[in-house]
Amino acid sequence: MSLLIKNGRVITVSDDHVADIFVEGETISAIGKNLNMKADQVIDAGGKLVFPGGIDPHVHLDMPFMGTYSSDNYETGTRAALFGGTTTVIDFILQTQGKSLHSALEAWQGRSNGNALGDYSFHMAVTDFNDNTKNEIKEMIEKEGITSFKTFMAYKGALMIDDRQMVGLMNEVRKQGGMVTVHATNGDMIDFLVAKHRSENKLSPLYHYLSQPEITESEASGRFVDMAYHTGVTSYIVHLTCEGALNQVRDAAKRNQKVFVETCVQYLLLDASLYDKGFESAKWVMSPPLREKKDQESLWAGLNQGIVNIVGTDHCPFNWEQKKMGENDFSKIPNGHPGLEHRMELLYSEGVHKGKISLNKYVEVTSTNAAKVFGMFPKKGSIGIGSDADIVIFDPNEKHTLSAKTHHHRCDYSAYEGWQVTGKCKTVILRGKVAIDNGKAMIEKGYGKFIKRGRSSSAV
Ligand code: URP
Ligand code: ZN
Ligand code: ZN
Repeated sequence: MSLLIKNGRVITVSDDHVADIFVEGETISAIGKNLNMKADQVIDAGGKLVFPGGIDPHVHLDMPFMGTYSSDNYETGTRAALFGGTTTVIDFILQTQGKSLHSALEAWQGRSNGNALGDYSFHMAVTDFNDNTKNEIKEMIEKEGITSFKTFMAYKGALMIDDRQMVGLMNEVRKQGGMVTVHATNGDMIDFLVAKHRSENKLSPLYHYLSQPEITESEASGRFVDMAYHTGVTSYIVHLTCEGALNQVRDAAKRNQKVFVETCVQYLLLDASLYDKGFESAKWVMSPPLREKKDQESLWAGLNQGIVNIVGTDHCPFNWEQKKMGENDFSKIPNGHPGLEHRMELLYSEGVHKGKISLNKYVEVTSTNAAKVFGMFPKKGSIGIGSDADIVIFDPNEKHTLSAKTHHHRCDYSAYEGWQVTGKCKTVILRGKVAIDNGKAMIEKGYGKFIKRGRSSSAV
């Protein structure tokens, strides 16, 4: 099969030009003006923007968590992602404490194999670092193509590791050429505040927010950054939300330490005033919680300064019945919210359309940097000859409204109900095949492939 995309305004990290793109099979084989190749399918992209397919490096699909499972599985989650222009996601495998990394990998393969529409890869969350786990790291990197190792400095008793384990893991991962990523919040401080609020009968979702003040994140981020400096491991902070944590990364840059930073679209657009809605606020109970306006400003600035490198979603949806597990106790509300489908359109509308970031920056933070940082570039994250033909054809003028009635997440509420958005993903191509066309899915589950990743590129 061949495909010719005509006259689109092609945006990459460094380019902005009107061109034709010729795709043969799964990859791009030519880019130029007025290409006159014969193709099986021709798409007129005149007046449209053409981006590399989005990469969301932070999703939780079909994940066992807090006594339930996140409500999007590989089929529904990757389908929703494609509707929103995200062609590749990276999901998190969670090691069960006391068990091996390989047994966790098998469990995740069991749920994902043959079920995804879009491409996907895995991070490995190491929740129990010991001599056995240590011996599995090399094989994860070299055989399985899982090159990033996630750590949790919170969720004690289930996912959290202590600093001794962290330093041990960092040393081994550095030796094997991988990367350590982190959920950087101080679990002990948070647990103290949760217990205090519960003992005072303060049980509404507001107290989820009040149990995780900014300092719990800035302290843990600084500690992680110092341990990464000490061990020399390539490091990455997931879902960074606030000015205090970002300043820790700024300080590290003064000693020429590079720490990759991801924020998520909700931390740029939503704020803690959403915790004043009684139990409805459970819709936005996530960790870390939404922050203040000043933190949003700091994150937008961080994007433009190149300190914040990637915008993900931390998509971890739960239906309302699941959220109601914490109706009488905020600490039992499953943490997470739906966002995967809306990342590209929201960031375009609120970022590019409103003049906060450039088109090139948009491509950088929604796609190319994730491909580079997570060892998939230039196969993914690029409109270049030889790259996978993962392409979004985007109408920058189409206005629409986000709603649970129309989204494709398997979640019965929207975190962005009623939001007016300018810009829509019209056609989404995955490895040379039209996956979404004008609001219709054109591929079936099973088309999505597991992507083995290489080592991180240190320059983004
Ligand atoms: O609230 C969140 N973020 N849920 C998913 C797990 C995590 O911490 O990323
Ligand atoms: Zn997290
Ligand atoms: Zn997460």
